[in-house]
Amino acid sequence: MIQIAFYDAKAYDKPSFEKYGAEQGVCFRFLETKLNEDTVELARDCQGVCVFVNDTVSAPVIERLYELGVRLIALRSAGYNNVDLSAAFGKIHVVHVPAYSPYAVAEHAMALLLTSVRRIHKAYNRTREFNFSLSGLTGFDLHGKTVGVIGTGKIGRIFVDICRGFGMKVLAYDAFPAKDSGIEYVSLEELFESSHIISLHCPLTEDTRHMINAAAIEKMRKGVVIINTSRGALVDTEALLKGIKARKVGAACLDVYEEEGDIFFEDRSGHILNDEQLARLISMPNVIVTSHQAFLTEEALNNIAQTTVNNIVTCLNGDGVCQNELCYHCGNIQSCKKERKEKCF
Ligand code: NAI
Repeated sequence: MIQIAFYDAKAYDKPSFEKYGAEQGVCFRFLETKLNEDTVELARDCQGVCVFVNDTVSAPVIERLYELGVRLIALRSAGYNNVDLSAAFGKIHVVHVPAYSPYAVAEHAMALLLTSVRRIHKAYNRTREFNFSLSGLTGFDLHGKTVGVIGTGKIGRIFVDICRGFGMKVLAYDAFPAKDSGIEYVSLEELFESSHIISLHCPLTEDTRHMINAAAIEKMRKGVVIINTSRGALVDTEALLKGIKARKVGAACLDVYEEEGDIFFEDRSGHILNDEQLARLISMPNVIVTSHQAFLTEEALNNIAQTTVNNIVTCLNGDGVCQNELCYHCGNIQSCKKERKEKCF
């Protein structure tokens, strides 16, 4: 049996991971705590750890995991900005789930947009109190509006298709534009200036951190709707709040938040929220916050568990070659050809 310490386990993770694990001889030690320097010891006697987006897989954590004999970090997410890949190089293999349901995330982005522009969140609360007034619920048609999509990978391209179905004009920006995709690529500046709605679907990197900042918001149309289902730190929250207060930003739909790490995924009702920025955001009538739930569909959970178990078995049994290994040694993860037989080291 392969033993894996499963950090930040939630009730919705267990059924699918237990099912696929049992089929392939992988036993998960479910831990409610997140992985960090204080909790790394809980991985003792395990061959691998399974982590999610808010676990801290920093250089000291990796070093200690290595000392404990852990040989695999299996991310059950697509994004891997929380893992210090250079620290893992040569010591611990890192695998992820590159795609599990891009539809789940793209559809959630559209759900947030529709909720916001048609004021569904307000109408829902009103009718529950038998308030049938329409005052203040005027929305706008999406048909004919311009949407700017930043990042046209798996999720971004599905979002593009959904928007086209609504009769929207789509502009896109990507550092690596997809050839022959029929997508109209423009500069980031033009996208900011022309879009009624901007949706973020690129990864968090040093280049993209705070790409939505005060200077970017300054260039945007008055009343722009900003959707972020990607990673919180793509948006400078302080600048967003200023943009909303100045009535420049018409609405924000946020599934992710830059300081979400200790807050999201937990029931904090009945507690004082110690994050002033998040409290201010949630108090705004034109801001919708969901707590990193865009991925959360049955299809996605099944695919995540199945792929993660396959990644673990392929890496720890057999010859260790795994298609979903995150390659650091080539220097450029986006274009890595995995020349060393698909292995990092
Ligand atoms: P992907 O790798 O298929 O696509 C990312 C795209 O971003 C690529 O086309 C890439 O060329 C582009 N890109 C890279 N650097 C860029 C830059 N500097 N500027 C503009 N574009 C750039 O990834 P996928 O599967 O579409 O996921 C996108 C993001 O969605 C992930 O990185 C992750 O952060 C987020 N995500 C959020 C989830 C949620 O539950 N809220 C679930 C899954 C992913």
